[in-house]
Amino acid sequence: MMNARVTGPVLLSMLLIAAVGSGSYAAGGNVAKGKVLYTNLCIRCHGVDGKGDAYMKFNPPVADLSSPAVQSKLDESLMKAIHDGRKDTAMGAWKFVLSEEEISDVTAYVRVLGSHANRTLP
Ligand code: HEC
Repeated sequence: MMNARVTGPVLLSMLLIAAVGSGSYAAGGNVAKGKVLYTNLCIRCHGVDGKGDAYMKFNPPVADLSSPAVQSKLDESLMKAIHDGRKDTAMGAWKFVLSEEEISDVTAYVRVLGSHANRTLP
């Protein structure tokens, strides 16, 4: 019983440390909330690791959110893509679904996906 109560906060702090440790995270974004949003809304296209290899396929293809190409972009740029979507692609405008705060939360989680990918590089 004690363990169950302790695990949540410990996992949360580990996630936060991972995000802060990577040196790039969306200012003010809550990683834990972002993860829930990502799981509910984004995972079906972008996949568990953000690599865009989920079961939904599109043309143009789903962006690999863990890639250097995406991770090198500024938070503002990622949040704009999420806010407005990408014209003529499967990436919709989430401004109708998510608040500004939720967009920064989910962007913070996108940074965590990038830091996971970086750790597996040689
Ligand atoms: C229906 C499938 C789908 C869903 C759901 C989806 N995306 Fe996307 N996403 C795409 C596609 C396809 C692209 C590539 C668009 C392009 O070619 O410009 C993309 C691109 C992006 C980009 C831009 C990456 C870059 O290169 O700058 C970001 C950031 C992103 N998605 C985040 C999210 C987040 C966060 C969610 C959930 C709130 C989400 N996406 C939900 C399909 C999806």
